Amino acid sequence: MPCNCCEITDNAFSEAEARAGLRDYRRHGPAEHTRLILEAIRTLKLKNAELLDIGGGIGAIHHELLKDVARQATHVDASSAYLRMAKEETARRGHSARVDFIHADFTQVAPELEKADIVTLDRVVCCYPDFRGLIKAAAEHSKRALAFTYPRETWYLRIAFKVMNFFQGLRRDPFRVFLHPVAEMDLLLKREGFERVSLRRLFVWEMALYQRTGV
Ligand SMILES: C[S@@+](CC[C@H](N)C(=O)[O-])C[C@H]1O[C@@H](n2cnc3c(N)ncnc32)[C@H](O)[C@@H]1O
Repeated sequence: MPCNCCEITDNAFSEAEARAGLRDYRRHGPAEHTRLILEAIRTLKLKNAELLDIGGGIGAIHHELLKDVARQATHVDASSAYLRMAKEETARRGHSARVDFIHADFTQVAPELEKADIVTLDRVVCCYPDFRGLIKAAAEHSKRALAFTYPRETWYLRIAFKVMNFFQGLRRDPFRVFLHPVAEMDLLLKREGFERVSLRRLFVWEMALYQRTGV
């Protein structure tokens, strides 16, 4: 990482939080923001695809897409607690041979990784300061589609994020949340050869699906 972000992110997502995330997923299925990504990807009607899930948390996206869209997945995550939960659920589903797990900051290991048909980042850019580096590296690794969720640029989230970061500072915790400019992320993806084909909104999250043009 350009900083010690992997360590910062790793500390930010505790074992208890990851365990609670997995429990929720087992009880209720994918969260609403994740469902937007899954629905968007399924509109592309891909089969036997390779999936690269960046910051996949407990792995909901690959647990779901390995059922009908993907044949193989790579899950890169900076959080060791999330990766442990994701591995546990992957094994429970009998998918261990189909998923590679990498504990790293994606921007650091990206040059060593193969491209995939689909790249996903569900609520990841908001945990990472260098959104340009992250999105560019993600886009370069997508052969066909990239779907991601990020917080909407609204007045209420600007305030909420300022308050959250203020308390993070008081706790002397270096982890911060980021409201990155959507227009810049969009421009960056267009420059990388993608066009936006779907955009959906929840109260906090926005989901955008991009497709590589000319494929
Ligand atoms: C808010 S959690 C979201 C987890 C999951 N995608 C979800 O929506 O439930 C953010 C995740 O992104 C990971 N992350 C953030 N920046 C990353 C980076 N540069 N490389 C790899 N993982 C990253 C964190 O470790 C964490 O697992």
